Amino acid sequence: MSTSPAPRADDHDDRTAAPAAGHARVRGVPGPVAALRAPLPADPLEALAAVRERTRILVGDLTRDELERQVDPLMSPLVWDLAHIAAYEDLWLVHRHGDRPLLHPELAALYDAFETPRRARGDLELLDVPQAWAYLDEVRARVHDVVGERGVDPELFELVLQHELQHTETMLQAMRLGGLTEWLDTLPGGARVAASRAAGTPGEDPADAPVASVALVDVPGGPVEVGAADGVFSYDNERPRHGRSIPAFRIATRPVTVALWDAFVADGGVRDQRFWSDAGWAWRAGGAGSAVHDATGDGGSATGPPAARAEATPTHDVACHLNLYEAEALAAWAGLRLPTEAEWEHAAASGLLDDVGHVWEWTSTVFHGYPGFAAHPYKEYSEVFFDREYRVLRGGSFAAHPRVATPTFRNWDLPERRQIFSGVRLAADAPGPDDDPVAPAPAPGSSATGGSPVPPPAPAAPTGREATT
Ligand SMILES: [Fe+2]
Repeated sequence: MSTSPAPRADDHDDRTAAPAAGHARVRGVPGPVAALRAPLPADPLEALAAVRERTRILVGDLTRDELERQVDPLMSPLVWDLAHIAAYEDLWLVHRHGDRPLLHPELAALYDAFETPRRARGDLELLDVPQAWAYLDEVRARVHDVVGERGVDPELFELVLQHELQHTETMLQAMRLGGLTEWLDTLPGGARVAASRAAGTPGEDPADAPVASVALVDVPGGPVEVGAADGVFSYDNERPRHGRSIPAFRIATRPVTVALWDAFVADGGVRDQRFWSDAGWAWRAGGAGSAVHDATGDGGSATGPPAARAEATPTHDVACHLNLYEAEALAAWAGLRLPTEAEWEHAAASGLLDDVGHVWEWTSTVFHGYPGFAAHPYKEYSEVFFDREYRVLRGGSFAAHPRVATPTFRNWDLPERRQIFSGVRLAADAPGPDDDPVAPAPAPGSSATGGSPVPPPAPAAPTGREATT
């Protein structure tokens, strides 16, 4: 590798693109839905081309104005993501792998996720939409030249491919925040239904709602293996695969549904401080992040900001857009807790988890490095986020391509964030010797109770279990 500028860092939680001139608008057409998880060809260049076409389809119904404005300070103008994807590809596949100068070294800082944080991206003079697409096309032509000259580096190509897949999910988050995703929200089980119910729509008695039971499966404790195995593409934070010991536990077979969230809201859980961590209550009272969503109601508070809002994912009844604080409060109300990420991974590897892949699932684990961690290919991918306030999310959302959302993939975000497609799967400690080993008590709100949910009489404070290493 040549001498070069510092590796362009990806800030990870910004992930994702616009139509080429003349690309047909597809508003209202389900093409984007089919594109979300479309299989990718095996050939690296063909796979890159398929991912680019996916990107074009997903943003294909946006106007130039929609692509160029910043819908929220938390998110980039979508056109920034487009040029960032080009810059990243140029850096890794042309400059690093191909040993050629950057196409646009003068843009390196502007499209570096660390040097230009999201909140600043709306105030900068960015490439416009035609320029961004031209940048993408020029870089891709350079990649073809490099491949013709020196072949493919499989790891770097996968890194770049997954980077674009991840950024499209981030762009979809921004598109939803900006109300630009008709094709998502109009699908069966659309996102707006749950919001109106959470607001307490007159005439709807939550007790009559189809409140899902929380079915818990027992998982024996013992030594388990977690992390990505050698020989497959993985990120540095998934490595090395290692053993650890975990106690027996219980975990829900499904993520929390909108019906259960509605029962929590109807029961006053969002206004009951007993169920909230101190940090969660502070957020609830007006801390950072509370205004991420438009105010769709929280079931009662007339004075505070909207603190609770669950939406169904576009394709399912799984609750989406919960932040960690909300997930913890719901768990406390239900007499349960969040799983650790090791518990989640072990249960997933054991085939015990249904409905993985609808939402990113919060865990109680603080994002950290595994024993023996080594930063790769650059420190800013993972390591700078370790042992801070970031919590790990597992699984993958409906907007995450399966190529990214593997069983060992670790997502992470701040506890207050809920613009991401996040939900939660509840868990519990294994029953003690005095507990009934056969029949787990139905959670409050369980359909098995046949009535209104009843909160536990003396709820424990949310556990907020910390990292397991
Ligand atoms: Fe990035």
